[in-house]
Amino acid sequence: MELTVRPQSPLVESGSFVTGAEAEVIHVRWLPMREMTGPAMARCLTLLDPDERARAGRFVFEEDRSAFIAAHALARVMLGALGRRDPASWRYVAGQHGKPEVAPWPGPAGLRFSLSHARTCVACVVGWNTDLGIDVEAERPQLSPVDLADRFFAPAEAAIIRAAPPLQTRAFFLALWTLKEAFIKATGEGLTRSLSSFSFSLSPPAITLEAGESDAPNWHFLQFRTEANHFIAVAARSPTARAVRFDARPAQPSELAVLAE
Ligand SMILES: CC(C)(COP(=O)(O)OP(=O)(O)OC[C@H]1O[C@@H](n2cnc3c(N)ncnc32)[C@H](O)[C@@H]1OP(=O)(O)O)[C@@H](O)C(=O)NCCC(=O)NCCS
Repeated sequence: MELTVRPQSPLVESGSFVTGAEAEVIHVRWLPMREMTGPAMARCLTLLDPDERARAGRFVFEEDRSAFIAAHALARVMLGALGRRDPASWRYVAGQHGKPEVAPWPGPAGLRFSLSHARTCVACVVGWNTDLGIDVEAERPQLSPVDLADRFFAPAEAAIIRAAPPLQTRAFFLALWTLKEAFIKATGEGLTRSLSSFSFSLSPPAITLEAGESDAPNWHFLQFRTEANHFIAVAARSPTARAVRFDARPAQPSELAVLAE
């Protein structure tokens, strides 16, 4: 199973972000929190709108607050690069079940995104006219993968966990978990959808939907483990049967800083 993506080029570069003819490109970036300095965090905060700042202020733990701020700043920088607008200018509205969308929604531009924050890593995906979901999870030594899979996953997924090589049980679990989270975030259903109502297989990731759900061919998935051992999955539902291309790389704090100035 291929779970690692190697670092590539920076977030904003000539030709990295595209519109129009290449609208099927899905841009994925992640940012390990250990790389975020105090000044970088301060600049991230300047990008957020009043509502985001108020929400940031309500976190009890500093790690959660920092991850929230970094994730929301990353989303704004990526939206700004793709939509060619000031990152601080974006406004959001809550879609069905609370999924954030770029305002006005539904709007003519069709710029979509999803973000995820764990304490040690944040991630974001942006693209045009595509339902998107992303999830990042840190490795957790205390996980009980078999018990959790039996409780929350579809039977076929629980069978994958039971059949996994003993040293890779947690990795297989986190691969499936992130895919499931990315999927329910892309549909916007969140946890209103039963996690056992669909199932994933791995290598490559593929979904089996319930009878009556016929859009499985329009779904595209990416799942990998970063060099710092974070598990990331992305789900993308294209409105057409066209192939999508995932452009996935780590973001650099310096790029956030440049755009925040
Ligand atoms: C909200 C949820 C969609 C994801 O939550 P999460 O994995 O805890 O958190 P993430 O950091 O990955 O994502 C949170 C972001 O998702 C977005 N979001 C919120 N509701 C959403 C929805 N209905 N659909 C899509 N995205 C949503 C928001 O941007 C939110 O960030 P914000 O709160 O900073 O604005 C939901 O699935 C949830 O609460 N999951 C709990 C995790 C769990 O128990 N999973 C079991 C898997 S086996």
